[in-house]
Amino acid sequence: MQYSPKHNRYQQMKYNRCGNSGLMLPALSLGLWHNFGDVDDYAHFRETIWAAFDNGVTHFDLANNYGPPPGSAERNFGQILKQDLASHRDELIVSTKAGYLMWDGPYGEWGSRKYLIASLNQSLKRIGVDYVDIFYSHRYDPNTPLEETMGALDFAVKQGKALYVGISNYPARETQMAAEILRNMGTPCLIHQPRYSMLDRWVEPELLNILEQEGIGCIAFSPLAQGLLTNRYLKGIPMDSRAAKPHGFLKEENITPNTLEKIKGLNGIAEEREQSLAQMAIAWLLKDERVTSVLVGASSKEQLLDSLQSLKNLNFSDDELRSIERILNK
Ligand SMILES: NC(=O)c1ccc[n+]([C@@H]2O[C@H](COP(=O)([O-])OP(=O)(O)OC[C@H]3O[C@@H](n4cnc5c(N)ncnc54)[C@H](OP(=O)(O)O)[C@@H]3O)[C@@H](O)[C@H]2O)c1
Repeated sequence: MQYSPKHNRYQQMKYNRCGNSGLMLPALSLGLWHNFGDVDDYAHFRETIWAAFDNGVTHFDLANNYGPPPGSAERNFGQILKQDLASHRDELIVSTKAGYLMWDGPYGEWGSRKYLIASLNQSLKRIGVDYVDIFYSHRYDPNTPLEETMGALDFAVKQGKALYVGISNYPARETQMAAEILRNMGTPCLIHQPRYSMLDRWVEPELLNILEQEGIGCIAFSPLAQGLLTNRYLKGIPMDSRAAKPHGFLKEENITPNTLEKIKGLNGIAEEREQSLAQMAIAWLLKDERVTSVLVGASSKEQLLDSLQSLKNLNFSDDELRSIERILNK
């Protein structure tokens, strides 16, 4: 099938400045961790990418190991880029990462210069591009000098293989140290990608303030807690859900009675706001101006279209916020 993007696509989306940089990111970005591997249906996820671009989602997030099998999400995205979006490359922000296990031996994970540069070279080949827009260190490596890991990111930019760099899953203190090292190298840290949702708020006490002080953007991953903060599990575990899939990172044991009680309570508030629970969970993150973008996953274009509707109501009354806190603290 031939794809031609909607002409009004940029009118649907809100774009936020990423920290102190010149780069604007869509309030919603699409992540390809699950649902875009060789185990998934190409025609089906190709439609999700189309729906994203048609609605102003300009940012697509990858990592070397996304699939399964690892590497296949990059390859599949690259194929769609070539088939459908080649003439729109300059309208896209494509990111990838290295940090988790990708190949055997001592150079296939963590934060050495050897691993990061080799992995980026592999990613560029799989995606079929000359450069990525953002290259991330996917996790902090306590056994490699931070100067070496940040030096590898800086080198990627100086080589023209990445336009910007970011860090993901770095604790608050290491974030501050990384930011300073990068600044001194002349390659500022563009963005931090932490896990952040109503059910996981580790970023709130320290990290968000540090990002604001350092002028670093924040893109929140797993904003729907991998599907828990949606209507997916209100009546059991659907056969086609992440929790039911053997390769899914959400496990049945994560759906505890206490979590289910919270989800049901939150769903009640979402209904009163005339939003789906997914929409409310996304809006709740975006109400904080330090959050540049919310990085959603989607196993269908319908889910993505539903999530995009969150932008219609990003405001919360004090009463709603208090009720949400009460439920989350149960
Ligand atoms: N940096 C890191 O270490 C890291 C780690 C994890 C993720 N990420 C990034 O963050 C992205 C998103 O993570 P995630 O997939 O865990 O995000 P998520 O948005 O929390 O969960 C996505 C899942 O929620 C369900 N869903 C999505 N929209 C829905 C809707 N409107 N209604 C009902 N259900 C809906 C789907 O579950 P079903 O599949 O069950 O339908 C979907 O697969 C990843 O793709 C990746 O780019 C980064």
